[in-house]
Amino acid sequence: MYNKLQLALKYIHFFVTASDRRGHGVHSPFVFTFITEVLNDRRYFYAYERIEALRSRLLQRSDKIEVLDYGAGSSVLKSNIRRVKDIAGWSLKSPKFGQLLFRIVHHYQPRTIIELGTSLGITSAYMAAAGSGAKVITLEGAPAIASIARWQFDQLGLANIELVEGSFDETLPGVLEKATTVDLGFVDGNHRKEPTLRYFNKLLPYLHNASILILDDIHWSREMEEAWEEIKNHRRVTCSIELFFMGIILFNPDFKEKQHFKIRF
Ligand SMILES: C[S@@+](CC[C@H](N)C(=O)[O-])C[C@H]1O[C@@H](n2cnc3c(N)ncnc32)[C@H](O)[C@@H]1O
Repeated sequence: MYNKLQLALKYIHFFVTASDRRGHGVHSPFVFTFITEVLNDRRYFYAYERIEALRSRLLQRSDKIEVLDYGAGSSVLKSNIRRVKDIAGWSLKSPKFGQLLFRIVHHYQPRTIIELGTSLGITSAYMAAAGSGAKVITLEGAPAIASIARWQFDQLGLANIELVEGSFDETLPGVLEKATTVDLGFVDGNHRKEPTLRYFNKLLPYLHNASILILDDIHWSREMEEAWEEIKNHRRVTCSIELFFMGIILFNPDFKEKQHFKIRF
């Protein structure tokens, strides 16, 4: 994992080499629309407030839960005790990125969404709240965390989320087989090269031309950067959009040749 200084230098490099958020010089119609209608959509949605109210409550919880750490692979490494507010403060996507996920679902209307890494359920809630026609299947390995996430979904009245408990290696194959196709995939857990590539390869047969795959924390470590490079250069990938903290992968054959974009967000 990079330290704060390394990450800051990487961000500066990204910032000076990335396109701005107006879409100037972006010739791809898909990417131009993504910038102007999804990234830059400043509309206010009521769901934002409800989900952020739940996040605020999590950030006030000093109670401790036992967390199974799956970080290094598919097997359970160690169990430790953490405060809910620390998990809420460190492990969850910010409102800005949660709301971007909401807008992606709102705009592209995926029907089957698979999320690897539920944690306390904030991003799952954003995606589920954005599309009533969407079904979010979210995978989480730590039972105590999963149980808080389930409670959150109940509070929000979100019936279109299915939380599948267990290690990704155990649960993903069955989830994919049942889903038959994945319109939107969000990989936000176990940020290491080999597992990230493994999940990508497992998802690949279920992703179609209009699917969107989102990878989180692509600059978190050298390993994650290597995984991101490998994935964006995969022969089936036709376009990548990098927002520094998140990377988006497309399979749309309308791109005549592979295109990579970096956009400040
Ligand atoms: C970064 S958090 C997810 C955050 C969430 N998407 C959000 O922003 O609201 C990653 C989660 O993935 C889970 N996780 C990591 N590796 C896993 C594995 N191999 N199997 C199952 N769960 C795993 C962790 O327990 C953790 O709760």
